[in-house]
Amino acid sequence: MSEIINLASKIEEQLPAELVNFMQVAGEVTASQGQSLYLVGGVVRDLLLGRTNLDLDLVVEGNAIDLAQQLIIKIKQGKIITHPRFNTAKLQWNKWSIDLTTARSETYAKPGALPSVKPGSIDKDLFRRDFTINTMAIKLNPSHYGELIDLYGGRDDLEHKLIRILHERSFIDDATRIWRGLRYEQRLNFQLEPNTLQLLQRDIPMLDTISGDRIRYELECILQEEFPEKVLHRAEELGVLAKLHPSLKGNGWLAKKFEQARQLSSPNLPPVGLYLALLAYPLTNEETEHLISYLRFPKSLAQTLRDSSSLKAKIQSLADPGLIPSRIYRLLHGYCPPAIVANSLACDSPVARQHIQLFLDKLRYVKSALTGNDLKRIGIAPGPRIKEILNLLHEAKLDGKVTSKRGEEKLVEGWLGRSPPTPPA
Ligand code: CTP
Repeated sequence: MSEIINLASKIEEQLPAELVNFMQVAGEVTASQGQSLYLVGGVVRDLLLGRTNLDLDLVVEGNAIDLAQQLIIKIKQGKIITHPRFNTAKLQWNKWSIDLTTARSETYAKPGALPSVKPGSIDKDLFRRDFTINTMAIKLNPSHYGELIDLYGGRDDLEHKLIRILHERSFIDDATRIWRGLRYEQRLNFQLEPNTLQLLQRDIPMLDTISGDRIRYELECILQEEFPEKVLHRAEELGVLAKLHPSLKGNGWLAKKFEQARQLSSPNLPPVGLYLALLAYPLTNEETEHLISYLRFPKSLAQTLRDSSSLKAKIQSLADPGLIPSRIYRLLHGYCPPAIVANSLACDSPVARQHIQLFLDKLRYVKSALTGNDLKRIGIAPGPRIKEILNLLHEAKLDGKVTSKRGEEKLVEGWLGRSPPTPPA
C-alpha cells in the first residue's frame, strides 16, 4: 500500500485563513450528506511546489449547484453564479472566487470538439485532465482532511520537473493542450517528457481542429504569464507558433521588446494589446488581417493590431529630424495608445521614438483655448469655416506660435483681416 501523504499543514501555511476555513466548512457540509469533496488541479500542484495560487477548484461527488447554494447560506455572504448545463457554480465573496464542479467523466465525439460530460467519480474526473501534474486532488471531508490523491504519478513528475500527458490521444482529443503544455513547461521551468514531446509534435496538425476563439484564449493566457516570450520561443522551435501564423517569430528581438514593454508598464503587466502588437509587428497589413479573422479578436484588440500595422508605414516620416510638432501630431493622432507605444518600442529610429514620446507625453493633450462658441461670438458664421479655424489654432498652439487665449483671438482677427478687439479696461 502506498503511504498516505497529508497536506493539511501545507494548506494551513500557504492559503489564507478565510479560504482554509471555507474549505473545512465545505468538507463538513458535503460529508454530512454522505458525499465527498476535493480540492483539485492547479492549486494542488502549486501547493506542492510552494507557489502562490488562490484559484480554488473544488470537485464534489454530488451536485455542485446544490452544494454551492448550501454553502452560501452557511457563510452568510457572497453570491453564486451557476451553469446548470455543466452543473458547475462559482462562489464569490469578499475578494474570493471559488469554482465548484460536479465530478465528471468526459468523452470526445471528435477531435477538438468540446467534450460530452456525464457525472462520474473523482478518479474519472482526474483522468480526463491534461497533464499528470494537474491530476492531483486533496480530500476535504473531515475524516480524511488533507489527504493527497495521486493516481497518475503527478507528484513524481513534479519532482522530476516533467510535463506528461495521461494517454496517447490526449492532444488529439484537445489540441489546446499543446499550447497549455508549452505554457506550463516554460512557467515552471520543466520539460516535456520525451514521449509527450513526441506526441505533441505528431499532433501539431490537430490544432486545426480547434476554433479560433479557443486558440485566442490560450494565447491570452500565455500573454499573462511572467515571461510570455519563453513560451513563444519554444512554440517557434517546435513549429507550433507557425500554426498561429507562419510569419510570427519567437526570437531574441521579441524577447527584448517584451522586456522593454514590461519595464514601461511596471509595476503592472503590459496590456495584452501591447504584447500582441509587438508579436504581430513582423506581419504585413494583409497578414495582420488574417490573424485577426482567424483568432476573432474583439473589436478593441483588432483595432490595436490594425493601428499598429498601419502606423508602421509612417515610421519613416516620423524619423525626419526636422518635423514640427503639428506634423508629428497629424501623423499620430487617431491611433490607439497601445499601438503607438508598440511602434515606439519596435521601430529602429531613435528620432521616430523621440517624436512618438513627445506626442504621448505632451502633444496629444494640447488643446486650443478658443472653442467653436468663442469663434461664433467673434462673429464667424456657423459652418465648416469654424472647424478649419479651430484646426489652424490647434496647429499654432502645437507649434508654440500662440500660448494664450488672447493670443489666439489676435491670430483669428488677423486671419479675418480685422483689427483685434480691445481688451476690457
Ligand atoms: N484542463 C484540462 N484540459 C484543458 C483545460 C483544463 O485538462 N484543455 C484541466 C486541468 O487539469 C487544469 C484544470 O482543468 O488543472 C483547470 O484548468 P485551468 O484553470 O485552465 O488551469 P489551472 O490548473 O488552474 O492552471 P493555471 O495555473 O494555468 O491557472
